[in-house]
Amino acid sequence: MKPTIGFIGLGLMGGPMASNLVKAGFPVTVWNRTASKAESLVKQGAKLAANPRAVALQADVLITIVSDPAALEEVLWGANGAIEGLRRGSLYIDSSTVSPDLARRVAKVCANRGVEFLDAPVTGGNWGAEKGELLYMIGGDAKAFDRAKPVLDVLGKKFFLLGPNGAGQTVKLGMNLLLALQVDAFAEALALVTASGVPAEKLMEVMQSSMARSGVLDVKAPMMVKGEFPASFPLRLMHKDVRLALELARDKGVTLPCGAAAYATYSAVLDSSKDDPDFSAVARFWKT
Ligand SMILES: NC(=O)c1ccc[n+]([C@@H]2O[C@H](COP(=O)([O-])OP(=O)(O)OC[C@H]3O[C@@H](n4cnc5c(N)ncnc54)[C@H](OP(=O)(O)O)[C@@H]3O)[C@@H](O)[C@H]2O)c1
Repeated sequence: MKPTIGFIGLGLMGGPMASNLVKAGFPVTVWNRTASKAESLVKQGAKLAANPRAVALQADVLITIVSDPAALEEVLWGANGAIEGLRRGSLYIDSSTVSPDLARRVAKVCANRGVEFLDAPVTGGNWGAEKGELLYMIGGDAKAFDRAKPVLDVLGKKFFLLGPNGAGQTVKLGMNLLLALQVDAFAEALALVTASGVPAEKLMEVMQSSMARSGVLDVKAPMMVKGEFPASFPLRLMHKDVRLALELARDKGVTLPCGAAAYATYSAVLDSSKDDPDFSAVARFWKT
């Protein structure tokens, strides 16, 4: 018998992840703040619950993936929140990107209720979610991870168990700081080269054959050169992740001068963008 999955958060990432679980034959109960986003999943065979608590009550394994710390606190501790519904002996996996502190707070509350908890943020974009090829950064104990693995195998292709609860979120914030800086750095170089009269394509061509090449730039540089920014990883979420990295750095007494500068650039573009662009739209900073 496959465990019953409760799934909360059907956004760019959660929608395809929940769909893959249904396709893999798991009984899945879903909830999303905007109920219309659950319609296609219900057509595929998922059950729709009335609120997060009702999802948790039915779940052997609960998965959440919502925007940010405030959203996670809302679905866990808000009206009809999931925490009150979690059953003793169940497993809870949070794949939202939030602070390591919040992950540890959730872990403590879960332990008090006899629930196993993994902080398990992901990377790989919405295409990784669609293909079931996400990379997981996990904090928690090996026993909980072993229990989660048959479910996670449907959603991801690489899994890193990084330490106790909070370690997954810590590495995720370090990773996204790195991605934010690489894309911001390419945008700066692009501004310099094009302002000097050399076409953007020339920089991209040379960069892709050089040591400056990177996985994220393989995907983002062509979009930046074209000036097209359909959201895959939205700028509002990258902005949140850089903010969380800076908050963690402040707590730990670590100075992040490049991170602070990038945060100011991402903030300016977020404030001036009327759409919901991809984070590579940081290149707009030099167009305004
Ligand atoms: N997109 C990516 O490429 C990517 C990659 C790796 C990690 N992540 C992380 O994964 C998480 C989800 O990202 P996403 O791209 O799926 O974001 P998204 O498309 O914006 O979806 C966000 C989800 O959070 C829900 N939500 C937001 N505020 C809420 C609240 N106050 N109460 C209840 N639900 C709330 C949204 O509900 P509504 O539908 O009602 O708005 C939606 O289900 C984020 O932490 C993000 O940083 C994203």
